[in-house]
Amino acid sequence: MAQQVATNVHWHDGTVTREERKGCMKQTGGTIWLTGLSASGKSTIAVAVEQVLCQQGRPVYRLDGDNIRFGLNKNLGFSAEDRAENIRRIGEVCKLFADAGVVTLASFISPYAADRDAVRALHQEAGLPFVECYVEVPLEIAEERDPKGLYKKARAGEIKGFTGIDDPYEAPENPEMLIPTGDKTLEESVTMVLEGIQANGLLD
Ligand code: ADX
Repeated sequence: MAQQVATNVHWHDGTVTREERKGCMKQTGGTIWLTGLSASGKSTIAVAVEQVLCQQGRPVYRLDGDNIRFGLNKNLGFSAEDRAENIRRIGEVCKLFADAGVVTLASFISPYAADRDAVRALHQEAGLPFVECYVEVPLEIAEERDPKGLYKKARAGEIKGFTGIDDPYEAPENPEMLIPTGDKTLEESVTMVLEGIQANGLLD
């Protein structure tokens, strides 16, 4: 857990209330946290959901595990500590987007339950919606898909500490949404996520 290092810093409240913000944005924002193995379909679903909401005129934004590692988190690798820091930073970014009234789609393997729970707690403390969506797929299917060829490399020992092969994935026990992509079409998965977003109080 990151410690507060800066001293002599003071929180400065704004005057825009959440209700006012909602009036401007014409929706309730919040975070949809897609977790699951590499190649489970997290990013594909997030891209499609983002497109649908954007076409509906909804402020929506997508934060993607691979993409964020080219910028904000380019100094992090895949040790348990680095994954925790990756998720901590993204959790804070999601909280800011959610507070700004944006529907935020975060797709990260986020293999450790404690890291995901910390992001949930951060949102709850701030009174912001957090919806955990487990994009579930059997490892065999993820390995068959292997769109980036990474499982093959991991099996060959060319990548160490690959999630699902020689690194853990702790499945969520009580996610708000469960999307088993092994037996769903992309359209079905997208519809489920859109319904879940609505059912969990976002967009209203
Ligand atoms: S997380 O575990 O810290 O949440 P994140 O979602 O940011 O991971 O990044 C996962 C992506 O990084 C994978 O989709 C894959 O393309 C790539 N990757 C590279 N090395 C690994 C690894 N050792 N384990 C998992 N994914 C990896």
